Formats: sequence, structure tokens, C-alpha cells
Amino acid sequence: MKVVVTRKIPGNGVKMLQDAGYEVIVGEQDGPMERAQLLEFIKGADAVLGQLQDKVDEEYLTAAGPQLKIVANYAVGFDNLDLTALSSHNVVGTNTPDVLTEAVAEHAFALIFAITRRIVEAHKLAQTQSSSFGPEVMLGMELKGKTLGVLGLGRIGSRVAEIGKALGMKIIYYDIKQNSEFEQSVGAQFKATPEELLSASDVVSVHVPLLDSTKHLINADRLKMMKPTSYLVNTSRGPVIDEVALVEALKNGTIKGAALDVGETEPKWAPGLVDLDNIVLTPHIASATNEARSEMGVLAAENIIEVLSGRPAKTPVKK
Ligand code: DGY
Repeated sequence: MKVVVTRKIPGNGVKMLQDAGYEVIVGEQDGPMERAQLLEFIKGADAVLGQLQDKVDEEYLTAAGPQLKIVANYAVGFDNLDLTALSSHNVVGTNTPDVLTEAVAEHAFALIFAITRRIVEAHKLAQTQSSSFGPEVMLGMELKGKTLGVLGLGRIGSRVAEIGKALGMKIIYYDIKQNSEFEQSVGAQFKATPEELLSASDVVSVHVPLLDSTKHLINADRLKMMKPTSYLVNTSRGPVIDEVALVEALKNGTIKGAALDVGETEPKWAPGLVDLDNIVLTPHIASATNEARSEMGVLAAENIIEVLSGRPAKTPVKK
């Protein structure tokens, strides 16, 4: 059986596939594979271990051929998979939940600290070697006692809420489903609409998947509902935020600051965003710990081994 891995991955995932006796071919290019090369590369594969930049649609599945049984996405998010096309080709799609929850939640907090305590601005100031302690130099916002609004209460959103609680923040959340058990365990309060959450939060952390219903969930109108002293942080998917509207909101003081790990058109950011002082940006690295990235490879490989052995996948994706 032939397994293709569309980009090098860290850890034991590839070795597990080789040890299982498959012919394993790994993309050696530096960066996501170009579309034409990808369509050629996956031809004849029984399984693909793919990246979130690989759009898995009708064209992809036809190019791969009828022997394809599984596409194991090396990511928890799976907005790059066309689930209808997968099911019409009888191909299983899988993702990598749980193993990256801690890494992404910790990164969300790295961004929250960085933007509220102005770490990047302060680093740039320190580099000038012209500033030191000053009563009014680089004042930021403390988190204790402030309200953390968690938008989307999946695994990562829940973990972010727990960390916020441990820091003494008041936790509110919005999700399509209310979760009373979680409310009791973390002392969190449910908000019935995104609007209610946005207007009550000092920090909003976004954790919704990218769906038709969540594209530009944070748009110009909703940004205006946020407090002018508040911060917006996104570690989910870029298109959940209208980035052009965000640039405007940051420029005119609609909100105080933002920190993004994901963008609308990665690797580019909306015009003007990178030049602002009240923004912190990272290039989609929230799950980039040795632990998470290695476990993601293991889980993707396990899914492939299960499916190619005729057993159900461990973590199939569902609509
Ligand atoms: C994911 O897994 O969906 C992240 O965006 C990348 O690790």
C-alpha cells in the first residue's frame, strides 16, 4: 500500500507508517506543496497524510484515484476538507484533536500576555537601548479580575477558560451549545449571543471552527460592540475575523489591541496590520510545540494504519 505524506513532519509518525510495511513517500519541499505538484504527488495513494493548506475537494479526490481510503489531516481544524466530496468518494477524513489542545491554549495565553503587557512593543523599545523604568512607560492591563470571553467552547476554548480562571479572570463564554457541567466546574457564565459576549469582555479569545456561519463572525459591526479598552485574540482560523475591519478598529481605537496567530490569507496580512503597534502577530504556530507536533503525526499515522487495516479511524471528522 502506498502512503503519501505531503510535507515533512516531526516525530515518529512517518516511521510508524514505514514499520507497518507501507511504501511511504514524503514531500521534501520547503513549504506547502503547490497545487499541481500535490495533484500529481497523491496519484495512486491508498492514504494521504496531508496539511491544512492542502485543499481536499473533488479535483483532489479524482486526481488521487479510486483506491484512496483515507486523508489524515495533520491538524485539528478541517475546513480544508470537503466532507461531501470525501463521503461521495468513500474516503475517510480524520483530524488530530486533543493532542494539541494544551499547545494551542498556552499559545492563546502567550498572545494574551504579549498584547496586554505590550511585550513586542517593549522589546522594540529595549532594543533602542534608550529607555528604562519610568512610571508611565509601557503601561498595560492586568488579567486578574478582568473578564475573559471565550468564543467557542470546544476542547481548546475550554482549556483557555481553565487557564483564565487560574489567573483570577471572570469567565464568560458563547457557544451554539450551553454546557452547564463546564459552567459549574469553571464557574463560567454562558452568554446567549456573540454580541453579549463581545460587549462584556476585556479579552476575547476566539476558538470557533471556520464554517459558513463563522466566516467574518467578527466584523466591523461586532468590533464596535467591544469595549474600547478590550483585546481580541485569535488562534482558530483567520477568516473568522474580517481583517480589514480589524485594521480600522485598531487604528481608530474601537478596541485597544489584538493578537493573531492566524490570518485571512496566510501568509499575508491585511494591508497596514503589520505596521501597527497595538497588534501582535505569529505565523500560525499555536500548535508548534515538539510535543504537539510529534503527537499529531502519531495520531495521523494511527488513523491511517487503522483504516488501511479495515478498522474504523480513531478520530474521523464529522459534519
Ligand atoms: C490546527 O491543527 O487546526 C491548527 O490550526 C494547526 O495546528
